[in-house]
Amino acid sequence: MELLLYILLMAVWVGHLAEAAKVVPMGIRRRAHGATDRKRDLPAITLTNDIPMGSYETNVTVGTPPQALTVVVDTGSSDIWFFSPEAVKHCKGGCLGGSFDAGRSSTYSIVHPDGFIIGYGDESGAAGDYISDTLRLGLITLKNVTMAIASVTQGFDMPPGASVMGIGLDLGESIVDQNSPPYSGMLRNLVDQDRINSRTFSLWLDDLQSTTGSILFGGVDTDKYVGTLKVLDIRGNATSGVKDRFLVNWTSLAVSNTSGSIKISQEGFSTPVLLDSGTSLSHVPVSIFHSLLENLGGHALAQQPYPEMALGCVPCELEGTLDFGFGGIDPVVSVPFSELAIPESASQDKLCPLRQDGSQACMFGLAASVDPDQSIILGDTFLRSAYAVYDLDNKLIALGQSNTNSTSSNVVEVPAGGLRSMMAGS
Ligand SMILES: *[C@@H]1O[C@H](CO)[C@@H](O)[C@H](O)[C@H]1NC(C)=O
Ligand SMILES: *[C@@H]1O[C@H](CO)[C@@H](O)[C@H](O)[C@H]1NC(C)=O
Ligand SMILES: *[C@@H]1O[C@H](CO)[C@@H](O)[C@H](O)[C@H]1NC(C)=O
Ligand SMILES: *[C@@H]1O[C@H](CO)[C@@H](O)[C@H](O)[C@H]1NC(C)=O
Ligand SMILES: *[C@@H]1O[C@H](CO)[C@@H](O)[C@H](O)[C@H]1NC(C)=O
Ligand SMILES: *[C@@H]1O[C@H](CO)[C@@H](O)[C@H](O)[C@H]1NC(C)=O
Repeated sequence: MELLLYILLMAVWVGHLAEAAKVVPMGIRRRAHGATDRKRDLPAITLTNDIPMGSYETNVTVGTPPQALTVVVDTGSSDIWFFSPEAVKHCKGGCLGGSFDAGRSSTYSIVHPDGFIIGYGDESGAAGDYISDTLRLGLITLKNVTMAIASVTQGFDMPPGASVMGIGLDLGESIVDQNSPPYSGMLRNLVDQDRINSRTFSLWLDDLQSTTGSILFGGVDTDKYVGTLKVLDIRGNATSGVKDRFLVNWTSLAVSNTSGSIKISQEGFSTPVLLDSGTSLSHVPVSIFHSLLENLGGHALAQQPYPEMALGCVPCELEGTLDFGFGGIDPVVSVPFSELAIPESASQDKLCPLRQDGSQACMFGLAASVDPDQSIILGDTFLRSAYAVYDLDNKLIALGQSNTNSTSSNVVEVPAGGLRSMMAGS
């Protein structure tokens, strides 16, 4: 079902012209570094700061008086957490973004002692207390937000360790893994404290050339995408059926250029995929990875640095797009190859050797998910070409083609009832 959300949004927008919009915008910035996140996508040894990779961060303050922290914006997890001053001392590679000293905050209280334990794909992890305190986002102040302080960490020896703003579904919180009920996440605080109308946010990373993007709580910026947004149901976990992560059905993949389009996915292809801003690369099924490399004149690395994923190299000068379909075969997001052929810096050991004609190969922005237990993930290499609206109330994700390089803005408030009432109200 293709929904003409753009037109609907325009109708809602016109209706709201008179009111001040209840939205909370925040700037985000890509920090380039080697080990790109706790999922540690790329080998820290070979990738250094000048590689156009990294995680998307934003600035917040916590506590009273406010302590400034930088956090990674992560749609793949659901807890907001910071390092304790003690934990930061053990980050040998240096933890980015600072630490939170609860003892210096007059508004802090403990909610669940030792309730927070989180593990990431690379076996790093963090643990500590769930607390409640004041959180400032952009220009607004939220009271009584449940967050966690990591007093114990593991596997953060390599840079970057960074505090995280997990903005996933409440059922994805670490406390649910400890068999406790979920707590109300920050999006609920935003609604309850009358800052936004429904638990929705939109994420725009912009392209690889840009190091800044934006996250908009409670709104949709119709200037930041082209065409219409396709509304997808979040799907449940394949085993339990529980909707606890931002998973949707990915249903087609094609390679296109000026001479035509080649279907890569098989007839009837459908796989749950996590839309995860906290993962730098995209992790696709092995068969897709290999047929893509074959089609693009690339190759898998002879020596793979990780057991759970395979990395590849492609010609740097590829032209065309990789077209992703969701809930049908029509492309919803086309990722230009210029976003997927990532140059390695001159100053480092190269993973991708020179090609036979002496020209440089580029790192491929998609990796194969070798371990069948690992999720299929569309990370930043995909999301930079997408505009995504996450609706936690209705468990919907509206996805479309990013209007990269856009400098204008047309912010539409999402009404109470979220995307569903936006669609029904038109
Ligand atoms: C966060 O603050 C640091 C230090 O003031 C600044 O360099 C950085 O650009 C800020 N990041 C964002 C996303 O605003
Ligand atoms: C803080 O939030 C929790 C739920 O997350 C609630 O039980 C508690 O009453 C709130 N406290 C205040 C002071 O608002
Ligand atoms: C996802 O695809 C499966 C079949 O592969 C289907 O059973 C399920 O209903 C789909 N879920 C959504 C939310 O579209
Ligand atoms: C589904 O749930 C199981 C058990 O809760 C978990 O081990 C698995 O990682 C989940 N799968 C996904 C794709 O989230
Ligand atoms: C277009 O794609 C086809 C098939 O993958 C390839 O043979 C051809 O060289 C490509 N053309 C351009 C201009 O990249
Ligand atoms: C966006 O701007 C960059 C340079 O700043 C340029 O390389 C790229 O082609 C532009 N993208 C689009 C879609 O115009």
